[in-house]
Amino acid sequence: MWNSLKSHHDKVADRRFETLFEDAGRAQDFSVAMGDMLFDYSKTNIDSEGRELLLKLLDEAGVAERRDAMFRGDKINETEGRAVLHTALRNLDGGPIEVDGKDVMPGVLDTLDRMEAFAEDVRSGAFAGQGGKITDVVNIGIGGSDLGPVMATLALAPYHDGPRTHFVSNVDPADVAAVLRQCDPATTLVIVASKTFTTIETMTNARTAKAWMSETVSDPAAQFAALSTAADKTADFGIDPSRVFGFEDWVGGRYSMWGPIGLSVMIAIGGDAFRAFLRGAQEMDRHFKAADWTENMPAMLALVGIWHNQVCGHATRAVLPYDNLLMRLPAYLQQLEMESNGKGVSMDGEDLATDSGPVVWGEPGTNGQHAFYQLIHQGTRVIPCEFLVAAEGHESDLHHQHQLLVANCLAQSEALMKGRDLDEARGKVADKFEGDELERQAKHRVFPGNRPSTTLAYPQLDPAMLGRIVALYEHRVFVEGAVLGINSYDQWGVELGKELATALQPVVEGKETADGKDGSTAGLVTFLKKYGL
Ligand code: F6P
Repeated sequence: MWNSLKSHHDKVADRRFETLFEDAGRAQDFSVAMGDMLFDYSKTNIDSEGRELLLKLLDEAGVAERRDAMFRGDKINETEGRAVLHTALRNLDGGPIEVDGKDVMPGVLDTLDRMEAFAEDVRSGAFAGQGGKITDVVNIGIGGSDLGPVMATLALAPYHDGPRTHFVSNVDPADVAAVLRQCDPATTLVIVASKTFTTIETMTNARTAKAWMSETVSDPAAQFAALSTAADKTADFGIDPSRVFGFEDWVGGRYSMWGPIGLSVMIAIGGDAFRAFLRGAQEMDRHFKAADWTENMPAMLALVGIWHNQVCGHATRAVLPYDNLLMRLPAYLQQLEMESNGKGVSMDGEDLATDSGPVVWGEPGTNGQHAFYQLIHQGTRVIPCEFLVAAEGHESDLHHQHQLLVANCLAQSEALMKGRDLDEARGKVADKFEGDELERQAKHRVFPGNRPSTTLAYPQLDPAMLGRIVALYEHRVFVEGAVLGINSYDQWGVELGKELATALQPVVEGKETADGKDGSTAGLVTFLKKYGL
């Protein structure tokens, strides 16, 4: 199928896809609706034939069977021998889901109830610090134990009515110091979020926070909670089991904010709003399971991604939310997509026959427009853009400003598609220049156009909508991974750096020499030592 797709691409690559809109039904035909969400992929070079070929990839890869196996609790994360069941965390009123012959749902729902009771106690003051009601919550975690909660807390800021929430992730002491400086230890709750409870950055920051708290609080561990699969390690750290919220190894780190890792979000917005967030995700799960492929939003989002990355060869994609609340969505998606599908070996141990998943990056519009859009419009490489836009913001008295935001979003996708040819560019400067100078000046003002983009439009970013959007991207990653034959649920590629950092620590501490290291590494150690390392 890849060959057929490539030959189809060769056939249509030079076409201006704007001409596809001569078919008056294109916008509707090349869009997918799910409830009140709309995913429009009509501003791409995908035509009916291309779509048919892309859809065949799903059958060839057995995506439907694999999807059902995931939801069922089969161990589809084969390199780690684990099920992939983050969907169970939002299976609020669904049926039983078995792993190794045991229904996991009672445990999931019980933990959710415990989280909610604790979150409400923190919010009401029933759980207090030594100095009284909790004013600040500090979540210490990294990767999936940070990016999801940060992204969701920012995204749901209009619903935030709990204590202030802070996040510490980097082992750089500048991070933890800046956060702790803003907090009173006597009224701060520290949440140590780590699936493994061994991650060096998180455990180092957790010890720093404990030492900071112990300077003023007689029982610092009493103001700590833990979110982890490793109950023994949380106990060693001194955290009472009543404030430990566990989960199982079938929840991957980057898929974990729906369960205990979401505690900071729940404390910020309350249990009801958090459950609405889960329900939104559950709606997307149901849609993904039931909808025909052409009407299936995650599947079509994935196929558009595959078309641009593996077929057209565009190595990156930009995620551009025209919704400032989603300012950390690109960072969140970087982990979700690149840690999941950034792999060169297929599930059966063969070198991947295609490119792996793309580089994902982005910033909220309109900020990006005044930074990197220049390259998107006139650079030599094509960067498929994925816009997200809400009909309504949360600042109702500033709706005119929101309308300006939306106009910018729609204008960008239009400009990317249409571009501006030399004639039009000449017209723009004909009153200022003439002759060769007119030609030269006009050329700088040409926009090639024919640059693809998609737009995800929705009414308003509320907790349920955020749940739907994140689940949409999770399932997109699943489909892309399944089509490429990748195990999207392991992350061996992060191990080597961790091992070498551990080995280098005695060297940078001056306990061991850099002998045996390569010349560059040894030279850098010497340089940094000279200036105070
Ligand atoms: O280093 C990668 C990683 O394992 C991520 O997959 C994970 O989200 C992150 O580290 C944090 O892991 P943990 O929650 O176990 O501290």
